Amino acid sequence: MRPAPSPDAEGRQRAANLVLIGPMGAGKSSVARLLSTWTGWRGVDTDGWVRREQGGLPIAEIFAARGEAFFRDRESAALDSLRHRHRLIVATGGGIVLRPENRERLRALGAVIWLTAEEDVLFERVSRNQRRPLLHTADPRATLVELLRARAPLYRSCAHFAVDTSRKTHAGVAREVLDGVEKIFPGTVVN
Ligand code: S3P
Repeated sequence: MRPAPSPDAEGRQRAANLVLIGPMGAGKSSVARLLSTWTGWRGVDTDGWVRREQGGLPIAEIFAARGEAFFRDRESAALDSLRHRHRLIVATGGGIVLRPENRERLRALGAVIWLTAEEDVLFERVSRNQRRPLLHTADPRATLVELLRARAPLYRSCAHFAVDTSRKTHAGVAREVLDGVEKIFPGTVVN
C-alpha cells in the first residue's frame, strides 16, 4: 500500500488527507466540519456515506435491520471509496479501527488524528441522543467503558497523534489538530 505522505517539490512530507478517528462523543464530526471550513478541504463522513448508500436510513435502523456485520462491511466500503482521493477531511465512526485492513487504509489516507476525551465527558455527550445503537444496552455507561478499553490500543496503533477534547471548544481542538499536522507533515495545510 502506498505510504500516506508524499513529498512536495521541496522534499517535505505532506499528508494527502486529514482523518479523524476516536470514540463516539469525541467530537469527530463537529471538528471535521470546522476543519473543512477553515482549510477549504472537502469534508467526508463514513457514517454519512453508509447512510446515504442505505437510502438515508439512520445508523440505528441499519444496525436493527441488517446487523452490525453488515454495517461494518459498508463502513469498510466507505473507506475504500476514498482511496486515491486527496484534500479531504475524513470523519469516521468509532468502530472503524476494529478491522486491521481498515487501520491500514486509514494510515494510507494521510494524517490520522485520534480525538479522545475523559470517560465522563464522552458519556455525557453520547447521552444527549439515542443515535448510537451499540449503547442501547441495560448499562450504556459500562458498555461505553468496555468499548473504550478494548479500542484504545487500536486507536493508538493507528494514529499519528492524539488530541484530548474534554474541556476544549471545537475551534480549540481544530487548532491543535492543524498544529500537530504541521509538526509531522509540514506544509500539508496552507491557510
Ligand atoms: C460506532 C460509532 C458510531 C457509528 C455506529 C458505531 C462505534 O459513530 O459508526 O453507531 O462502533 O463506535 P460515531 O463515533 O460518530 O458516534
